[in-house]
Amino acid sequence: MSLQDKDRIFTNVYGYQSWHLKDAQARGAWDNTKDILAKGREAIIEEIKASGLRGRGGAGFPTGMKWSFMPKQPPTDHNGNPKPSFLVINADESEPGSCKDREIIRHDPHILLEGALVAGFAMGARAAYIYIRGEYIREAETLFAARDEAYAAGLLGKNACGSGYDLDVFVHRGAGAYICGEETAMIESLEGKKGQPRLKPPFPAGAGLYGCPTTVNNVESIAVAPTIMRRGAAWFSSFGRENNKGVKLFQVSGHVNKPCVVEEEMGIPFSELIEKHCGGIRGGKDNLLAVIPGGSSVPLVPAEQIWDAPMDFDGLKALGSGLGTAAVIVMDKSTDIVRAISRLSYFYKHESCGQCTPCREGTGWMWRVMERLRTGEAAVEEIDMLQQVTKQVEGHTICALGDAAAWPIQGLIRHFRPEIERRIEERLGSLQQAAE
Ligand code: NAI
Ligand code: SF4
Repeated sequence: MSLQDKDRIFTNVYGYQSWHLKDAQARGAWDNTKDILAKGREAIIEEIKASGLRGRGGAGFPTGMKWSFMPKQPPTDHNGNPKPSFLVINADESEPGSCKDREIIRHDPHILLEGALVAGFAMGARAAYIYIRGEYIREAETLFAARDEAYAAGLLGKNACGSGYDLDVFVHRGAGAYICGEETAMIESLEGKKGQPRLKPPFPAGAGLYGCPTTVNNVESIAVAPTIMRRGAAWFSSFGRENNKGVKLFQVSGHVNKPCVVEEEMGIPFSELIEKHCGGIRGGKDNLLAVIPGGSSVPLVPAEQIWDAPMDFDGLKALGSGLGTAAVIVMDKSTDIVRAISRLSYFYKHESCGQCTPCREGTGWMWRVMERLRTGEAAVEEIDMLQQVTKQVEGHTICALGDAAAWPIQGLIRHFRPEIERRIEERLGSLQQAAE
């Protein structure tokens, strides 16, 4: 089931070759891009739809369908002038465990820029904005330089690739806020405002950047588009299974012998991913405790359930978790699992924008109880109380950060309740001993 080298889209993900234009072209980037655009907007969108590509930023929304939401005829402003449309590429990769977009930008920025042209054309965008995480300093330098190469070669800008279509690409650096990776907070930030999520609907295709039709897509979703157009939707959808098609970058970190970023077929079993690409679990398979399979926003899965699981949207959903960004965080039996999840709770408390009460108050509340559970100072009843609070936060906030803060705790309680109770009992026991 493993992917063959010939089927890889990201052939320079380890940076063995240069990222510069002529080397990227030798690997196949910018190959007859004009012919792709000549197919027309509708044909490109239909091909991406047929490929089954689902957004690679975590939510898995069908990419072709998202592009089709962009208006065919531009809406007009209050003076009757047509409004421009925009493509925003989300390179604010901040999900703990995620590092795939960084590798694309570091080592293969031209496939992202070519993707920006193809996607921008398909949705009739006037300009594309690449919003890159502030901490990605070297990557931003590479991206600026690659963009300049593409402009100098006539691949971007006026009459891009000789197609008659104009697309400007702007690179915008973030300033270190996780929440700016949420698409509407990103739009606010691009507009020069404080990065806080907007209520949806309206979705960005209706009212996005500067109130104009906008599509926000993840780096990987955009970077695969030219290859899908060249090789065809049937080729891409020949990988994976129904509803979970294609190839994907997996990022494996934590207690494996060789952490890595690797492109694989959707649905690859967890065991194969780990044994083939990561040199196995540190200390062997029996030393595995649990895995967070999709970046920190999804619940953990215990060892006995994850080993044979297909790594795709439906396979992990069936286990009560999710594929997310496919950032696979592996934890062996040396892990203090309560402490690990408590640390994530602190992260979400710290990154909450504070705009809505359940998230602003709830993330702090959840973290404080998690700390009491970590040290065993909590009462056993607080486990159920914490569970109830996660349910009051989940689904009751403006953006997905509230859910992201609640789900890891729910996963911990679901699978490791005996461990939490053991800590409380152990502490009570030592207090009693001290009193005697
Ligand atoms: P979402 O499900 O609300 O939206 C996904 C996309 O589909 C958005 O672009 C949205 O505009 C579009 N969409 C959804 N329903 C639509 C409709 N009815 N009409 C038009 N467009 C529609 O999810 P969201 O909040 O964008 O992303 C959450 C995910 O992001 C999490 O599951 C997490 O895995 C991931 N994430 C990734 C991070 C990273 O660093 N890559 C950081 C944090 C979270
Ligand atoms: Fe801000 Fe949290 Fe509300 Fe999202 S859920 S808008 S991060 S307060």
